[in-house]
Amino acid sequence: MAGLMVNVDHVATVREARGIAEPDPVLAAALAELAGCDGIIVHLREDRRHIQDRDLELLRKTVKTKLNLEMASVPEMVTIAKKIKPDMATLVPEKRQELTTEGGLDVIAQAKSVKQSVQALQKAGITVSLFIDPNPKQIEAAKDKIGADYVEIHTGAFAEARDRDQEKREVRKIREAVDLAFRIGLGVNAGHGLDYHNIRQLLAIELIEEFSIGHSIIARALMVGMAQAVKEMLALIKG
Ligand code: PXP
Repeated sequence: MAGLMVNVDHVATVREARGIAEPDPVLAAALAELAGCDGIIVHLREDRRHIQDRDLELLRKTVKTKLNLEMASVPEMVTIAKKIKPDMATLVPEKRQELTTEGGLDVIAQAKSVKQSVQALQKAGITVSLFIDPNPKQIEAAKDKIGADYVEIHTGAFAEARDRDQEKREVRKIREAVDLAFRIGLGVNAGHGLDYHNIRQLLAIELIEEFSIGHSIIARALMVGMAQAVKEMLALIKG
C-alpha cells in the first residue's frame, strides 16, 4: 500500500502573497501529520517564492514522520540540505519563470553535475531521489550514471491528458517506468498533478512506494480544512 507525502508549499504561497506570518506551512504540516499522512514535502526554491529557510529549519525540528526536501541540483541547496539533513532529498529541475516544476530532470544531459550533488548528499546520509519523466533511458541513467537511491516518476503528462486514450497511454508509460526502476534496484515514488479523481488510476501500480501530492490537497484544505483534506486522500490511497 502506497504512502501519502503531503507537499505544503502552497500554504507558504498564500503567506508570501501577504508577506506576513500566516498561514504557516509548519502548522499545516503538523495538521497533515495528525491526520495520518506518511510524510511532509517542501520545495525550497532558489528564489524563495514560497518556502523560506526558516520553514525548513522548523520542519526539521517538528516533523515526526519523514521530511522530503525538493531542491535544485545546485551547490547552495546541497549545502543547505547537508545542514538540515532531510530524510530524503528529491532533485528537481528549476526554472525561475515556471509556475511549478515543469518537466523531469534530464539526468543524461546533466549527468556530471547531478552526480556530484547526489554523491555529496548521500555522503551526508541523505537518501536521494531524482524527479524524472517516465522514460526508460532516464531511469537507467538515474541508476547507472548517477547512482540515485530513488526516482520520483513525473505524473504530469498523465494528469494533463486530454482524453481517455491518452490517459491510458500515460498510465501504461508510468507502469512500465515503475517496473523498470524497481527491477534495476531503485525505490519508486510518483507525483505531480495528482488529485482526488485521477489518483484512482494509479493505485493498481503497487510498486509505487509514495505519492507526492500538493496542490489538490491544499486547494481542498481551503474548503474543508487540512485534516479533512488529508484524510480524504488517505482514504482513496489506502482504501
Ligand atoms: N513532485 C514534485 C517533484 C514537484 O515538484 C511537485 C510540485 O511541487 C509535486 C510532486 C506535487 O505536485 P502537485 O502540487 O501538482 O501535487
